[in-house]
Amino acid sequence: MSNRVVVGTQWGDEGKGKIVDILTGEADIVARFSGGANAGHTVVIGDEKFILHLVPSGILHQNKICAIGNGVVIDLEHLFSELEELEKRRIKYRGRFLISRNAHLVMPYHKAIEKLEEEARGKGKIGSTGRGIGPAYRDKIAREGIRVIDLFDSELFKQRVEWNLKINDNLLRKLSKTELASLKKKSLDILKFIRKVKPLIADVGLYLDQAIRKGKSVLFEGAQGALLDIDFGTYPYCTSSTTTVGGVCTGLGVSPVLIGEVIGITKAYTTRVGNGPFPTEEKAGVCDILRERGNEFGATTGRPRRCGWLDFVLLKYSFRINGISKIALTKLDVLDSFEKIKVCVGYRYKGKLLTEFTPDLRTLENCKPVYQELAGWQKSTKGITEFKRLPDKAKRYLDYIAKKLKTPIWIVSTGTKRDQTIRL
Ligand code: GDP
Ligand code: IMO
Ligand code: MG
Repeated sequence: MSNRVVVGTQWGDEGKGKIVDILTGEADIVARFSGGANAGHTVVIGDEKFILHLVPSGILHQNKICAIGNGVVIDLEHLFSELEELEKRRIKYRGRFLISRNAHLVMPYHKAIEKLEEEARGKGKIGSTGRGIGPAYRDKIAREGIRVIDLFDSELFKQRVEWNLKINDNLLRKLSKTELASLKKKSLDILKFIRKVKPLIADVGLYLDQAIRKGKSVLFEGAQGALLDIDFGTYPYCTSSTTTVGGVCTGLGVSPVLIGEVIGITKAYTTRVGNGPFPTEEKAGVCDILRERGNEFGATTGRPRRCGWLDFVLLKYSFRINGISKIALTKLDVLDSFEKIKVCVGYRYKGKLLTEFTPDLRTLENCKPVYQELAGWQKSTKGITEFKRLPDKAKRYLDYIAKKLKTPIWIVSTGTKRDQTIRL
């Protein structure tokens, strides 16, 4: 099998976890390249539900190797609690889980800083997941960050913690003296993870390159979605990392020539969680149906997700940036009850029809989506595993999507469980 990348093509939560779990069966190694514990990837196996945040979803296959690359920001406290939780559920990770020595750490002060900043932003807040992601990446880019490897020089580590607290003094002084002292202690206490981290660290780029050259195949697990990308997303209402395919190279140290297929995970409608523009958002009625049938509540924060119709302006853009070779279309069953299904084919703004995506916030916030209406199928597709068993109108919806995006649909997901899937 060639090396595959799985990326979200919308605003995250497209169902990457489920698809990664399925494709892990055909790979030898699963590697995460970006984001951190802001991700929430759900995998349902039988009656058991797992939500993975930092650990690649591939971990649920007991014989596969999982790796976290340098592009991921790691909250060690979170990581080990996630791993221990998995162990309690009989998922063993020792001996098959690697973390890059160059990955940056999310420190306790990052989460404190983020909380203070979000409060200060007031109405303009990003609505982040509160996992310290923005401040951790900011420190990385500003060359103030602390990497996994820095744990092994405790003097340097302590100096960097002191320095970071000092340069953030303006914000952190909003905390009481006791809160500040406790934050400093918590930050220095991260050193205690050395013992647990040591057996896991690796030169992940070298490891993957050698494995690929020996004929092993890698599944690159993306987090978030294209519209949350730091460069291509709805800035500043986005995350702080490269969520698109380029992140594989910069976030794992893997050459682009080793990437085979790019699988675009696309939800049959659109959702987003947190603030920011969303042209096809539906406020009530349709949103309530999608949210209820699709159980659209954040896997990380539990927040209700904003819901709306499929948007081809946005998808065409994200397919172009990612070079999507095949589509995995998820949550088709959520649309089962609609008599009419709308799809957005353009944005009307100041009298003009826009068919290419624009990163301009004002346009995205004020444009009116131009819809085409397709016939709904009003029959259950839940759990269908064969294409031929789908209602004709559902087949037409799939055909329309594939044609519009000039990309074949390869997988259709019709429920949360592993086997509720159609392979084309
Ligand atoms: P991710 O972040 O992209 O991995 O997606 P999330 O796990 O945050 O959100 C996707 C949600 O949809 C999860 O609750 C999944 O269990 C669920 N899900 C995935 N595929 C399907 C599907 O085809 N139908 C339905 N009804 N639910 C699905
Ligand atoms: P998965 O991998 C959906 C959103 C947050 C917020 C913005 C910035 O499960 O698809 P951050 O904490 O990253 O600084 O938040 O990005 N966000 C996600 N939304 N799915 C995710 O991940 C997300 N990760 C971050 O809600 O709007
Ligand atoms: Mg999610």
